[in-house]
Amino acid sequence: MYRSRLDGKLDDITLEFLSSISDDSVIAQYDILGSQAHTLMLLENKIINKQDAAKILNALEKIKKENISEESDAEDVHELIESLVIKKAGKEAGGKMHTARSRNDQVALDIRMKIRDDINMVCFCLNQTIETLIDLAGKNHEVIMPLYTHMQQAQVGLFSHFLLAYADALFRDLDRFYVAYGRVNESPLGAGPVGGTSIPIDRQSTAKMLGFKGLVENSIDATTSRDFVAEYIGNAAILMTNLSRMAEDFVIWSTSEFSFVELSDKFTSSSSVMPQKKNPDVLELIRGKTAQVIGYHMAVLSNLKGLPSGYNRDLQQVKASIWPTSKIIISSLLVVNSLLKTMEVNEKKLRQAIDSGYSISLDIAEALVRKGIPFRNAHKIVGNLVQIASNSKKSLSTLPLEEIKTVIHDNEIEAKELHKIIQSTTPEYSLEIRKSQGSAGKHEQQRMIENRKRKVEAYMTGTNKRTNEVRASLEILNNSVMSLIKNTS
Ligand code: ARG
Repeated sequence: MYRSRLDGKLDDITLEFLSSISDDSVIAQYDILGSQAHTLMLLENKIINKQDAAKILNALEKIKKENISEESDAEDVHELIESLVIKKAGKEAGGKMHTARSRNDQVALDIRMKIRDDINMVCFCLNQTIETLIDLAGKNHEVIMPLYTHMQQAQVGLFSHFLLAYADALFRDLDRFYVAYGRVNESPLGAGPVGGTSIPIDRQSTAKMLGFKGLVENSIDATTSRDFVAEYIGNAAILMTNLSRMAEDFVIWSTSEFSFVELSDKFTSSSSVMPQKKNPDVLELIRGKTAQVIGYHMAVLSNLKGLPSGYNRDLQQVKASIWPTSKIIISSLLVVNSLLKTMEVNEKKLRQAIDSGYSISLDIAEALVRKGIPFRNAHKIVGNLVQIASNSKKSLSTLPLEEIKTVIHDNEIEAKELHKIIQSTTPEYSLEIRKSQGSAGKHEQQRMIENRKRKVEAYMTGTNKRTNEVRASLEILNNSVMSLIKNTS
């Protein structure tokens, strides 16, 4: 349709190579909304008349309900929709729809509208998953477990503390998307091909009709920039990296060797050959899909880094990274949320791990510090105790007095007293007196749970408000379209 200065038609292979139709079905509905707002604005500003506007809007309404075929010689959905409008409304009216706009501002608009919806959905799903983690933390605030560094037992902790750590990481993800929304929710429509137009359009009006908070003002910036896409997919890659770490923790913990948690059968698969298998495939796929999203982020940045200003066709490929990213992050969050809700925590196994290890060591050393012994000496005393205990395959609490005596070299403490300290430093007691802010201490769990509950509520309210604002604007747009169609027929 646009080839008036060019000779001949594109051959099939070239058309297929050039066309973005297969990626465009996702934005077809947004393109129609954008065209409706643009048409109403052209009418409002007396650029087209009421009869022509009604014909265009009528055609767009019909196209909305049709299954737009991918079988066409249009290069993209923008050309396809315009050609359908011309077919239905006639050249005289339909041919006016594209006045004072370009596919360059159109595609930027469609992508922004799609990402805007996706961000709201992602924020909603993140809120839900965080809520589940906080709920589970509430239920597991007395479940004692070893905390690990280097995959070696490090300190005595609580399962709630571990869950809250993920809640906090996901809060940062949530905030990254939440803040990025403001940069996405600006309208590029009316920027034209790159430099604006002499036709007296009103960009603020279309922005308002489509529920945008403002404009991407500079017309070069509006049509060229895809940094908001890089930001969105970058945020997605970071989110997936967090989910992937969680998946890895649970893959390890659901092995028969650890058995700290048991996944519901609904989230596992069996083997085609080994009947005993219960594989954590869902978690493995979170890891696998994370790699994919990181790849999409790389693809977008690599695409953008060498482009000159103004629209370049390379930008068409950016879309192919956005849609699957949204699909992956939303489905991953939904799956993780359900998996968490149905996962069983094996309290006994967690306790056994504590009792068979030496993760209480630092608590004993700190008890010595409270008795006035310098930390470095305390570290040495407890280190020696662990050495003796581990050589004889005993726990610290079962070490006899004679063996305890051998680790005291400078009379820092009586053997009897040291023995008493070892006996009284139970995991329960240690978690009772663990006090530092954000620690595994029992009291800190309660405080953090309450605090995080309020935080979730605030984000939830904000996300709902934004979703309703977009919905309300689009409803008003739809009413205007409908009443114009009705009154002109
Ligand atoms: N199909 C193109 C894309 O997705 C739309 C913009 C085409 N603009 C142009 N001047 N060729 O990016």
